[in-house]
Amino acid sequence: MNCSFFYTTETDKSHAEILASSIGLDALPSRNDFPGAFLELGSSGLSFFHPDARASNKFHIDFTSGSSGWRLKRADHEKLIKKALGKSDKPLNILDCTAGLLQDTLLFLSLGHQVTAVEQSKLLYLLLQDALSRSGDSYANLLDNLTLTQGNACTFTAEASNFDVIYFDPMYPAPKKTALGSGQMDYLAKILETEMLQNDPQKDFEVLQLMPVKKMIVKRPIKAEAFATGINYQVSGKTTRFDIYI
Ligand SMILES: C[S@@+](CC[C@H](N)C(=O)[O-])C[C@H]1O[C@@H](n2cnc3c(N)ncnc32)[C@H](O)[C@@H]1O
Repeated sequence: MNCSFFYTTETDKSHAEILASSIGLDALPSRNDFPGAFLELGSSGLSFFHPDARASNKFHIDFTSGSSGWRLKRADHEKLIKKALGKSDKPLNILDCTAGLLQDTLLFLSLGHQVTAVEQSKLLYLLLQDALSRSGDSYANLLDNLTLTQGNACTFTAEASNFDVIYFDPMYPAPKKTALGSGQMDYLAKILETEMLQNDPQKDFEVLQLMPVKKMIVKRPIKAEAFATGINYQVSGKTTRFDIYI
């Protein structure tokens, strides 16, 4: 992986060494003139920088910031996801195959469900773990129902019987204008590029669809072709669509 790992002060050094070695890197003191991609552990937690990212600031996940966090801004999205999940008289056990920034997972948790969220990126996994450890009481009860795992969700097929619902939200093929605003999706793409992670969402879908769960929910750009025929129903918003396979 083409990435370095820095710490800003000696206080952060031992923690930085543990984190860096977990992904096969060495932890070094921060330097201002570094030209490449790097993770950096400092007083506000872990962040990631990529010289070619559109945003000039470092990428740092903070679940506690923003206008009451993520939920208010995502009210429409929440309506769609609720519809896609459908009514259930008991909490569901959901496998979120594409954890990303955990925004959809947090939504599922807020609806009272249990979530196992899988993220293939080791860098993003570290950033998420760090953000979760900083989230304090904000999500304390919700996070009891979260298991965050690093790996490829396609390897979870053997554990399928544990889940009621599979959720799959692969990266869009090309950056969408709507996703450009925050620069978050751009940074996510840069993280995957740094780790040389490439997915074939169609192939992943075909593996995941073999899991014998009650429902599979697939998030797609509104005009994208479906991964398969046999969609049982769709829930559509302005830019996004959920294809539901039962
Ligand atoms: C579009 S983002 C998901 C955003 C997420 N739903 C959210 O609300 O923040 C896609 C994420 O899924 C991850 N991913 C894609 N395919 C995967 C797979 N087969 N297994 C695990 N993670 C995967 C990517 O690394 C990326 O972080």
